[in-house]
Amino acid sequence: MTSEPDTQPTTVPDAIAAEPPSTHGAEAADLPGGPARRRGPLRAGERVQLTDTKGRLHTILLTVDGYFQSQRGSFRHTELIGKPEGTVLTTATGHQLLALRPLLSDFVLSMPRGAAVVYPKDAAQIVQMGDIFPGATVVEAGVGSGALSMSLLSAVGERGHLISVERREDFADIAIGNVESWFGGPHPAWEVRTGDLADVLPDAVEPGSVDRMVLDMLAPWENLGVAADALAPGGVLTAYVATTTQLSRFAEDVRATEAFTEPQAWETMVRTWHLEGLSVRPDHRMIGHTGFLVTTRRLAPGNTPQQRTRRPAKGAYPTESDWTPEDVGERAISEKKIRRVRRDIHRRAEIEQTGMASRPGPRPDEERAVSQDASELLSHPED
Ligand SMILES: C[S@@+](CC[C@H](N)C(=O)[O-])C[C@H]1O[C@@H](n2cnc3c(N)ncnc32)[C@H](O)[C@@H]1O
Repeated sequence: MTSEPDTQPTTVPDAIAAEPPSTHGAEAADLPGGPARRRGPLRAGERVQLTDTKGRLHTILLTVDGYFQSQRGSFRHTELIGKPEGTVLTTATGHQLLALRPLLSDFVLSMPRGAAVVYPKDAAQIVQMGDIFPGATVVEAGVGSGALSMSLLSAVGERGHLISVERREDFADIAIGNVESWFGGPHPAWEVRTGDLADVLPDAVEPGSVDRMVLDMLAPWENLGVAADALAPGGVLTAYVATTTQLSRFAEDVRATEAFTEPQAWETMVRTWHLEGLSVRPDHRMIGHTGFLVTTRRLAPGNTPQQRTRRPAKGAYPTESDWTPEDVGERAISEKKIRRVRRDIHRRAEIEQTGMASRPGPRPDEERAVSQDASELLSHPED
């Protein structure tokens, strides 16, 4: 995207000033990030996502004096301003470019980032499984680049309250820039506080007044005490962590507080599909790992978790300091199995060295059995 130096005087089409159509009255048109920014003809100052014929994406801000230039076509922005979304523009060089307003998921993946963002697939899970509802009071930490904040704000709506806490001023600044860019200005339900969650939260909310809480940070277990104080009975606490070691630490520390229900953990994998004629199959590449999600709910104060009737798996909680294979859920390997594997390995080495399946001088009745055994070893060297 470039601005052409010798810009010709242009007239702004009437459609720029036109109000977008609203099906549910004027109130809906005013909602932050709502219909006024999502409907009607493309306007100057708006973000547009261009898709070229190779499927490559370019995000531009439409301006009355702007000029888009790429190897796959160039045009003046005024050629798009006033046109409906979904316009396929044919450039002077015959290239075709599709113009659409980016969806929230497109915006999150193209916006400037300070910290890693919560991917759209996980944000969707957090909103659904973390039960973020319209009008809810939600606490989120950290804010990072503000990706999750946008989904949380969309879910709580303008009558909800999202308190987002970030320990780094610079990240908070990036997040505010991204969120305001998406919603077209400050969101009425959003409050950003900088500082460490454990220090900020007790002053930010009344005890027991928070409906939902989402922790996306390195050490969420450090904030279980303040989370327990802030959450209302039944309130949902969701944590998003990148590694199994964090997941395990968080779950065990949740249990140790005796203030929450049994934690539930999961991950989501999204596999996109190639759709072309008879070639309908999963794409070869996918995002294999983003993070793990874990939710738990606040018990009523003074109550402790139910005693579990199903006992933990043997070895799940080691008594010795050294971990055993059972501690991490591995099946123990019997001495007999190990002896067999070692025998097989020696036998394989023998065959590899001699190039013969049968040992010298077996009895005729043994020969068949030995050579069959050897061919198994060669085709399935691993157990
Ligand atoms: C992975 S980023 C969050 C990304 C964000 N959820 C998004 O979608 O853009 C983690 C953030 O948590 C912040 N953080 C870590 N520990 C914190 C704490 N105890 N209190 C407040 N912020 C914290 C970090 O500075 C960092 O910006």
